[in-house]
Amino acid sequence: MKKEVYLDYAATTPLRPEVYKAMEPYLIEKFGNPSSIHHFGKETKIAIEEAREKIAKAIGAKNDEIIFTSGGTESNNMAIKGVALALSEKGKHIITTPIEHHAVLEPCHFLEKLGFEITYLKVDKDGIVDPDELRKAIRKDTILISIMHANNEIGTIEPIEELSKIAREFDIYFHTDAVQTVGHIPVNVDTLGVDLLSLSAHKFYGPKGIGALYIRKGTRIYPLIHGGEQEQRKRAGTENVAGIVGMGRAIELAILELEKEKKRLSDLRDYFISEIERRIPDVYLNGHRIKRLPNNINFSFAYIEGESILLNLDLEGIGVSTGSACSSRSLEPSHVLSAIGLPTELAHSAIRFTLGLYTTKEDLNYTLDILEKTVERLRSISPYKQGWKIKR
Ligand SMILES: Cc1ncc(COP(=O)(O)O)c(C=O)c1O
Repeated sequence: MKKEVYLDYAATTPLRPEVYKAMEPYLIEKFGNPSSIHHFGKETKIAIEEAREKIAKAIGAKNDEIIFTSGGTESNNMAIKGVALALSEKGKHIITTPIEHHAVLEPCHFLEKLGFEITYLKVDKDGIVDPDELRKAIRKDTILISIMHANNEIGTIEPIEELSKIAREFDIYFHTDAVQTVGHIPVNVDTLGVDLLSLSAHKFYGPKGIGALYIRKGTRIYPLIHGGEQEQRKRAGTENVAGIVGMGRAIELAILELEKEKKRLSDLRDYFISEIERRIPDVYLNGHRIKRLPNNINFSFAYIEGESILLNLDLEGIGVSTGSACSSRSLEPSHVLSAIGLPTELAHSAIRFTLGLYTTKEDLNYTLDILEKTVERLRSISPYKQGWKIKR
């Protein structure tokens, strides 16, 4: 029987009913502008500050180090362009990696047009950044290092603690895009040693269009959005109150269940990986086998196109992804898979499965049965079997 199986939790997660319930009053009855002095405004202002406290607590920050934004994309833009503008007198060199999300790469490309220089550090075949490479790339005019906590496509977790130590030594700001890790694995700004950290609510069962940027006290940064005095004048505009309240409730629940869910998902992930490797020949796991997000599985299925697999699985009710959701309509191989040195053919044959709160072992067994048959059928009609470069 056909089932509905969602295996694309890294693209987005469904809103939890508890989160929706917390948001509901702020969509209708509690509508005051948080900047207003009267009691209508006061109650929404209080709700914002309570949510801020929950988020700060979840990542080991102080309340006034959290700035609400419209999501991960804006947080990354603010961190990179905001620091670049504030420190351009000191230097115009930024270090990042080629496997960052477009929300980091595009602001960097924009800054290149304004005369900044960007170094893209090489990563190894699993996507890991080498601390020695970072040390070698640092210059006198380096003002910012931005390296993601975990990669959204291949799930590899970077050695942020080690990398940020090097930044500290040279007194350079360190930003991390933690959109895929907050609420899923432990994240603490002091343990990680970062000055800026981006997060997004819709990746941990909160609403879409709301996120935050952690900015360590004393960090010099310019706002990108000018106007009113909201968010310590760092991000103007009447606050998305319901979104902020939802984000606060979502992070609270995620932290409460983090250890249990991390273990449950890692077990499911390892089961899924071993079953794919046992049942289907010529498959290649992308990303680090151990230093990996608990919910990420990314495989290349030699001789066939990822798109064909995706469409066939979709017909059977299963939602997966090829590369990252934002670029899944493009024909270019994923920039992440190219950067880890995957031959174009294997990059085109990659599928990402990401698990979450509602994923069960039955869902995975159903997917495995359909996947095995789909791959076998597509391979039997594949004209590409000869001439494929599958050596890495
Ligand atoms: C690593 C990473 N950074 C940033 C973003 C962008 O976040 P948002 O969708 O909240 O703008 C995403 C979303 O896919 C992501 O996975």
